[in-house]
Amino acid sequence: MVKIAPSILSADFVNLERDIQRVSSADWLHVDVMDGCFVPNITIGVPVVQSIRKCTDMFLDVHLMIDKPVRYVEAFAKAGADLLSVHLEADHPTRIAEALRLMEQCGVQKAVALRPITAASAVLPYLEQLDMVLVMTVEPGFGGQAFMEHQLDTIRQVRELINQYNPACRLEVDGGVSPKTAGKVIAAGADTLVAGSAVYGAADPAAAIAALREA
Ligand code: DX5
Ligand code: ZN
Repeated sequence: MVKIAPSILSADFVNLERDIQRVSSADWLHVDVMDGCFVPNITIGVPVVQSIRKCTDMFLDVHLMIDKPVRYVEAFAKAGADLLSVHLEADHPTRIAEALRLMEQCGVQKAVALRPITAASAVLPYLEQLDMVLVMTVEPGFGGQAFMEHQLDTIRQVRELINQYNPACRLEVDGGVSPKTAGKVIAAGADTLVAGSAVYGAADPAAAIAALREA
């Protein structure tokens, strides 16, 4: 079953509750946390995730684009995240492993994320314990960028590794996903689609979610 996860990065932050309700027909809510170091943009942090948790029962898929994410795993788990993604490029492997251990302790689902530069094989040391792998199809940092076609190869390679080592693990794709690109992304092996501008840039976000499902 393919899951659709609208990214609130493209929502109107002044009307966040309204914009979250507008995508209630989706499966998950994707929350982009950026620290101005790991990526050249700053978005939201723990208090906002806490407030989001109070206004929706949706599954909160929290994408941490921050340096040394191990420092904030407990805080985001307590704030109400259901799943946390940490970038493999954001710290030393031993500290990524530590972040995953903390997630396990806190009872949140565990994911690692790959920038476009990172090889699919980088997930191997962690794959057997993961609930999800997130493959970026744009450089992380901003919504509304063009989908990187060459990342279809990485998606296919990660799909092969997942099938071999942990078939229950989900494969999420984030960046430039729209009704135009969704079909290719699914054919390459993704089962979870993040979409920011394709959903919130549409006149009718619910119709955009339906269009992604059809694609
Ligand atoms: C980018 C974020 C994405 C972003 C996607 O760094 O991780 O989740 O919101 O936006 P679109 O769908 O517009 O590419
Ligand atoms: Zn994201």
